[in-house]
Amino acid sequence: MPLRGTHILVGVTGGIAAYKVGYFVRELVRAGAQVRVVMTEAAARFVTPLTFSSLSKHPVAMDLWASDQASGARLTARHIDLATWADLLVIAPASANTIAKIAHGRSDNLLTVVTLACPRPVILAPAMDADMYLNSATQRNLALLQERGYHIMPPATGDLASGLKGPGRLPEVEQLMAFVERIIAGAQQDLKRLRLLVTAGPTYEAIDPVRFIGNRSSGKMGFAIANAAAQRGATVTLVAGPTHLETPRNVRRIDVESTEEMKRAVLKEARRATAVIMAAAVADYRPVRPAPQKIKKRKGEVPALTLRQTPDILATLGKQKRGKVLVGFALETENGRAHAREKLVEKNLDLIVLNSLATHPGVFGSDTNRVTFIGRRGNAEELPELPKFDVANRLLDRVHTLLKRR
Ligand code: CTP
Repeated sequence: MPLRGTHILVGVTGGIAAYKVGYFVRELVRAGAQVRVVMTEAAARFVTPLTFSSLSKHPVAMDLWASDQASGARLTARHIDLATWADLLVIAPASANTIAKIAHGRSDNLLTVVTLACPRPVILAPAMDADMYLNSATQRNLALLQERGYHIMPPATGDLASGLKGPGRLPEVEQLMAFVERIIAGAQQDLKRLRLLVTAGPTYEAIDPVRFIGNRSSGKMGFAIANAAAQRGATVTLVAGPTHLETPRNVRRIDVESTEEMKRAVLKEARRATAVIMAAAVADYRPVRPAPQKIKKRKGEVPALTLRQTPDILATLGKQKRGKVLVGFALETENGRAHAREKLVEKNLDLIVLNSLATHPGVFGSDTNRVTFIGRRGNAEELPELPKFDVANRLLDRVHTLLKRR
């Protein structure tokens, strides 16, 4: 009974699928969870608050301005109470309007205020007409929320209330329950004592004020690690090279551009960290002297770039470890395990994550990854292709075990 004793806050917004959420609330209660329900006014046009108060066995919260019944006059900070009470907030069905409001930080009703204030995991289960769901505005809002660390449960495809067929149906109650159980399992605050420093993304080395040497790293793997660790209660600092990704919730982010900048930030922040995960694709070379002005094209001439090596940040950390857990990544195109093992030893790491372009060529920018963990004794654990968020959690499990042994 993974949900026994957990506090689940259910947010219901306006949509025909609101009726299904009654069954969902009943299942949550049956599974031993404590359930409270917040409804929007639009939701109450589809299902009455009485339905949800009967099923959850508690009054339904709707009004941001309702006065405290016990004290009479005082306006309670109900949104804070509810937001901190919850172990998990599930918004189902999540309407296009509520999704848009949350994506843009609006707070014009009790549910959006609670969502903005909630420090714990939030699941959104979009359900609407297929055209609304597929509209690029809705898709963009969902992508934005996913990057920030909200969990989006994709809608099912089938007959919709409008008569259309397509994606937009609220998934069945069993699927909602399975999704909730998975997130609750990953949201145990088991990493509360971990102070984690993660790096992510590429570094850029200037050729001139306009051009640079970079690489194809999207930063998604490092951001997923920061996100998963924060959800498990760790204190997380993320040093990020240039990416377009949103900062995950409850993560402190430091933006850098060059390897030199990343090195400075990492060495400073590493002093406080109990574990460092270097997921960044750090440039190995930089132009010796970046041109102060834009290099102009001259007929028949091809400028030669003279490069020099950048400092190896991870190797520097390996030399001054002081009980920290150090994790590196190795991106290899051939002989992956052998090369990764060499790096593990050379850089004095506890664990290395091998990304093999041979077995997973589409890793750049992808939402999934296929990696092998290699430990100090040379032991390899090969994972199947998984969402980067799940890879992140498996990696954090290993870091947790390494720290417990210290
Ligand atoms: N790394 C680093 N500083 C660098 C280069 C790499 O901290 N200047 C880190 C990366 O973040 C990664 C690990 O070292 O965690 C391995 O990086 P990789 O580029 O694969 O290894 P290199 O040692 O640079 O070897 P090669 O480029 O020959 O594969």
